[in-house]
Amino acid sequence: MCRNYLFICAVILCLFYGRAFDINKSQQAKRVCVVGAGIAGLTSSRYLKEEGIDFTVLEGTQYVGGTWRYDPRTGTDEYGLPLHTSMYKHLRTNLPKPTMQLRGFPVPKDMPSFPSWRLYYDYIKDYAKHFDLIRHIKFLHLVVAVRRESNIWKVKHKYLPTEEEFEDEFDYIIIGTGHHSKPNMPNIPGESNFKGKIIHSHNYREPDVYKNRRVLIVGAGPSGMDISLDIAAVSKTLVHSHHSKIKFNTPYPDNYIKKPDVKEFNETGAVFEDGTYEKLDDVIYCTGFQYDYPFLDKSCELTLTPRSVVPLYKYMVNIHQPSMIFMGLVVRACLVVAIDAQARYATALVKGNFTLPSKEDMLDDWQKKADAVRSKGRPLSDIHLLAQNEDQYYAALTEESGIDRVPPVMFKIRALDTEAKLENLYTYRNYVYDVIDDETFTRHIETRSNSSCLP
Ligand SMILES: Cc1cc2nc3c(=O)[nH]c(=O)nc-3n(C[C@H](O)[C@H](O)[C@H](O)COP(=O)(O)OP(=O)(O)OC[C@H]3O[C@@H](n4cnc5c(N)ncnc54)[C@H](O)[C@@H]3O)c2cc1C
Ligand SMILES: *[C@@H]1O[C@H](CO)[C@@H](O)[C@H](O)[C@H]1NC(C)=O
Ligand SMILES: *[C@@H]1O[C@H](CO)[C@@H](O)[C@H](O)[C@H]1NC(C)=O
Ligand SMILES: *[C@@H]1O[C@H](CO)[C@@H](O)[C@H](O)[C@H]1NC(C)=O
Ligand SMILES: *[C@@H]1O[C@H](CO)[C@@H](O)[C@H](O)[C@H]1NC(C)=O
Repeated sequence: MCRNYLFICAVILCLFYGRAFDINKSQQAKRVCVVGAGIAGLTSSRYLKEEGIDFTVLEGTQYVGGTWRYDPRTGTDEYGLPLHTSMYKHLRTNLPKPTMQLRGFPVPKDMPSFPSWRLYYDYIKDYAKHFDLIRHIKFLHLVVAVRRESNIWKVKHKYLPTEEEFEDEFDYIIIGTGHHSKPNMPNIPGESNFKGKIIHSHNYREPDVYKNRRVLIVGAGPSGMDISLDIAAVSKTLVHSHHSKIKFNTPYPDNYIKKPDVKEFNETGAVFEDGTYEKLDDVIYCTGFQYDYPFLDKSCELTLTPRSVVPLYKYMVNIHQPSMIFMGLVVRACLVVAIDAQARYATALVKGNFTLPSKEDMLDDWQKKADAVRSKGRPLSDIHLLAQNEDQYYAALTEESGIDRVPPVMFKIRALDTEAKLENLYTYRNYVYDVIDDETFTRHIETRSNSSCLP
């Protein structure tokens, strides 16, 4: 009897202290791991820093800026890892500068309306300097494993020069590793017979090597459209194969040949779905990228496919493990502005400014989106599409978390820019967009200036 009593007392004491301990633990400083030092990692760092939250950034390369840093090399880097960047020499942004601006850090006044990668990369580096973020970043620390154990994130990372491995514990993890790095290959029949060279746009750097050659571009996404024009300026022919139903009115040059999808390759060229044949020297697949998180383990409870990451709440919070947040997994949006808003939302969440809905409600919300995609007969990858819902998304982020709202003028600028692209891919970058207020902007044609002389 007495022994039982003692036992019960012990259990009660344990429960009491256990709970007290938990409470203290929950009041302890939260530790946040930020993976990647591109725009996602840098904006997250800036806001976490402003809130006085304890965080560490792990970046696999020795640079900030992620994909915006051009590297003339292709393949692997000095550590044998696949090069992350997909930048090409002549790239200029495909969105005008007001939509490329990070909050509270104006782009330089003399920056052209659609800057080259170099000017934009300088701007990102200046941002990191201005907010004194560099000292928070562990460069050359590649994240190799992330797992959830005992209610904590265990993050394993490798210092590349010595291959030394570390494991640290964090309460939150913000994943900003980008999704424009791993090529999505179409696997077309007969590829291995083709005698010419086939590459993916990830490895496209400059047009010079295609001078006087017969080049096939597959795909009509932003890269496909942009790289086609870059190469058509020097190539003998530019065969553009795609099935986009969008009507592009661009006055293509005489060496531009539009084709439907490729049916198959043989040694010398490609046969298309309409039965026609074209002799080719080179092929560039502009067929998009795959989501790639080789470091995430099962305990993260996500369903990962090359084209989707689910289920996420507000396009970023891992519903099953809501202390894991993905940045920038939205498609067809002003990505820079969207990432900046997501970084503030994530920070507000860590700070405790708001709490997430219950798991059931988040799943419910997600399921509705998934059902909508399915009912349109579209693939699940569409779950990441913002498109027409972009401005509503910004409103919803603000409503839930209390962050400053991304003004509606951003979406309006993107909409007009999209129209300009459909009119003419050669001239849409001649427009200058000036923001008047949160709702309105003006547009005029850039007077011939230095910017139009840029590559
Ligand atoms: C060719 C091209 C053109 C583009 N043009 C535009 C444009 O005009 N306008 C626009 O708004 N957007 C554009 N984008 C989209 C662009 O991706 C975003 O603007 C933005 O750069 C995304 O930033 P991020 O930080 O999410 O990813 P990234 O810039 O890709 O940065 C991710 C970082 O994570 C690091 N990393 C990856 N894996 C690990 C790991 N395991 N451990 C540690 N570190 C890791 C990488 O080294 C990298 O530094 C373009 C993208 C490409 C590829
Ligand atoms: C929790 O913290 C309070 C003061 O912050 C302290 O008095 C108490 O002993 C702590 N409890 C445990 C179990 O550590
Ligand atoms: C490839 O196919 C085309 C069209 O059928 C044909 O004209 C051409 O000779 C073929 N090339 C080779 C090497 O067989
Ligand atoms: C969190 O709330 C405080 C108080 O309202 C505010 O000052 C701060 O900016 C908020 N943080 C974020 C990241 O929204
Ligand atoms: C071009 O740039 C230079 C230096 O940045 C400047 O002095 C000059 O006025 C610019 N020219 C035009 C036409 O804008």
